[in-house]
Amino acid sequence: MSAPTFDYTYPSKREDAGWSDAQTPLLPGAHPAVAEDRRKIRIRRICHFFFAFTLFVLVIHVLSDTVRIQTSRALGFDFKAMADPEWSIPEGVSIVDCPAWEFGEHSDVGTVSFNFALPAAELFALARGPRSHGTIQIRQSDGETDDVRVNVEMHSDAHGGFDHAKVCLSKRKDEDDSVGVGIFTDHWWDNHHHRGHNHHIHFVVELVLPKHNEVLHITKLTTDMPIFTHNVDELADAVSFDSFNLHTTNAAIHTGSVHTVHGVVRTSNAAIDGVYVADENIALRTSNGRIAASASAIRADIRTSNGHIEGEYSASRELVLLTHNGPINAAVALANDPDGPPTEVDMTTSNSKIRVNLNLTSTKGSSGSFVVGARSSNAGLALEFTDAPLDAALQLNAHTSMGSADVRLHQTYEGSFTASTSHSRVQVQMGDGEDQGRGRKSISVTRHTGSYVEGIVGWSDLGASRGTAHVSTKMGPVSLWV
Ligand SMILES: *[C@@H]1O[C@H](CO)[C@@H](O)[C@H](O)[C@H]1NC(C)=O
Repeated sequence: MSAPTFDYTYPSKREDAGWSDAQTPLLPGAHPAVAEDRRKIRIRRICHFFFAFTLFVLVIHVLSDTVRIQTSRALGFDFKAMADPEWSIPEGVSIVDCPAWEFGEHSDVGTVSFNFALPAAELFALARGPRSHGTIQIRQSDGETDDVRVNVEMHSDAHGGFDHAKVCLSKRKDEDDSVGVGIFTDHWWDNHHHRGHNHHIHFVVELVLPKHNEVLHITKLTTDMPIFTHNVDELADAVSFDSFNLHTTNAAIHTGSVHTVHGVVRTSNAAIDGVYVADENIALRTSNGRIAASASAIRADIRTSNGHIEGEYSASRELVLLTHNGPINAAVALANDPDGPPTEVDMTTSNSKIRVNLNLTSTKGSSGSFVVGARSSNAGLALEFTDAPLDAALQLNAHTSMGSADVRLHQTYEGSFTASTSHSRVQVQMGDGEDQGRGRKSISVTRHTGSYVEGIVGWSDLGASRGTAHVSTKMGPVSLWV
């Protein structure tokens, strides 16, 4: 059910009518003086008409507003409050019901709860308004149940505050099979700081998912709740999402574990952590905050700025680890299907270290192709390829400046390599590669100055043409194991 709206085209139509009246030509053949009198009368009439009309429009406006409120009150909905732009209901969302707060023994804690069947298309939670902040916990029910349960607690040290906050059952206007919970606070709060106690208002939201004895399938879960810390339980074994979307700002997102096909987890100025298993894509995004997670997907996109990236990341098609002014400290696993395109990882930061272990695997046991990029500046870079299949093709570009570049390729690496720096030394060492059952790899260095080394390594000419590895820094030593 959506709030009624005014038809504002009505007054403008009437104004058009009045205007065309004023354009009516004078009757022909009248005496000039009489015509002048008539003109005055006509102008006065028009003025009267406009005055009466304006009054009429005003009265209709006020009356219909009153009638509307009376009607909606009688129906049990406070439509006036919800239609008011003060409540910042987002576009595309319609309000279904906003039950009254219930109070227990503490008048500073109000609660509202909902129970509803899991919607087929989308389950969502959203928050808007100047004092809408707090925490949301997403967990599964302890006992078996078919229903979703949402519990909302509002803590306010100003009792009047409960008139200026609402929790409403909502819907997407374009999706009948959606159910959401909306938390709204109005702008009354802007003028009622209550001597600095305004921070003592917060919401505690609990979203309790149904539970059956088999894995629960949820098509889509969305939160859009700025300044709500998100706590997600360990759900990966019990719930499978097609689409898992968490969005907040200025608040952290902690996820025990989650399993989804697609996932987008976004905040700002705060950390993201947790275990994210995606069958297709996962994106973890924040800024000015740390990402410390474990994420695996076909494509994984991990981005922050002014914060660390750490944890374990795996992808079979593409992995991005991107930050600025924050170190990247991670274990990366790439799995490539040799019959498909290469698997790529791009690791970028600035003014901070990169220290990453990479484990490359092939879905066919051997070969596969991998594209690895690592770039920083003003800091050291250390990559270690712990494992890679025989006959794999690696294209590596690893560059930094004002720090050391330290790259240890896998025992099975075959291909060309360059290592370069300025104002410092390059050292190239060869692992023996012997325990791979092919004997010792052969290495040939084709160019060697103190700060630049170029060469080829492999078991065969074919192998030696497979990979390329470029490692460089400026004003720092390079060491490369091939
Ligand atoms: C690399 O990954 C494979 C497959 O997951 C695993 O069996 C192997 O132990 C890993 N190697 C290292 C050095 O972690």
